[in-house]
Amino acid sequence: MLSKPPGLVYQIRMRQNQTAKQQQVEALMCAAPVIPVVIVDDPAKAVIMARALVAGGLPAIEVTLRTPRALECLAAIASEVEGAIPGAGTVLEPAQIEAVEKAGARFMVSPGTSPRLLDAADDSATPLLPGTATASEIMTLGERGYRHLKFFPASLAGGAPYLKALSSPLPQFRFCPTGGVSMSNARDYLALPNVLCVGGSWVAPVDAVEAGDAAAIEKLAREACGLKV
Ligand code: 3PG
Repeated sequence: MLSKPPGLVYQIRMRQNQTAKQQQVEALMCAAPVIPVVIVDDPAKAVIMARALVAGGLPAIEVTLRTPRALECLAAIASEVEGAIPGAGTVLEPAQIEAVEKAGARFMVSPGTSPRLLDAADDSATPLLPGTATASEIMTLGERGYRHLKFFPASLAGGAPYLKALSSPLPQFRFCPTGGVSMSNARDYLALPNVLCVGGSWVAPVDAVEAGDAAAIEKLAREACGLKV
């Protein structure tokens, strides 16, 4: 009997893997209307911030890899904050994937994609929410099994009207618009059929994080949680 060529078996395994990961991404995108995008460099402050976000109703937290101690902050949230779903943001390089997994990331976010990053993400069990801004990028990611995407930078790339225009020809995709999203425009995105949640830094302002101002962060998170449509 002829056996399937290894390449095909590998592709089928990758496809099944991606289907499972897309289900995980969908669950975390539906956990709350906003995924906080945070820049933090002090693990103790990261824990205070994450507890406040979770208390305010925002469990999925994207810790951007933009500070020297971002991985330590991610690890501290993963091990110390009950109820948090910690993720790593600004993942640009294949080598970062193993590092964020070790730190406890349950999802990864990238501002865009590269073939090398996507190949490495295929080999990882951790789901990736990749950034897109054009129909061609969306279609290319669709060919690799992605259905859940970050739309970035949302406001500059065309905002809610642009995403609405994509929903008719590309109805199978669901987005997390990020970049320039705030309390004043989040509802415009969340009202769209192809948007499950938005991402934004406004719920964890750097000054409040620096000051360890849990009350201010929890208040912002609670307001954002109320955006549910
Ligand atoms: C980012 O990557 O910085 C995010 O898109 C957050 O953007 P914002 O600061 O405009 O919310």
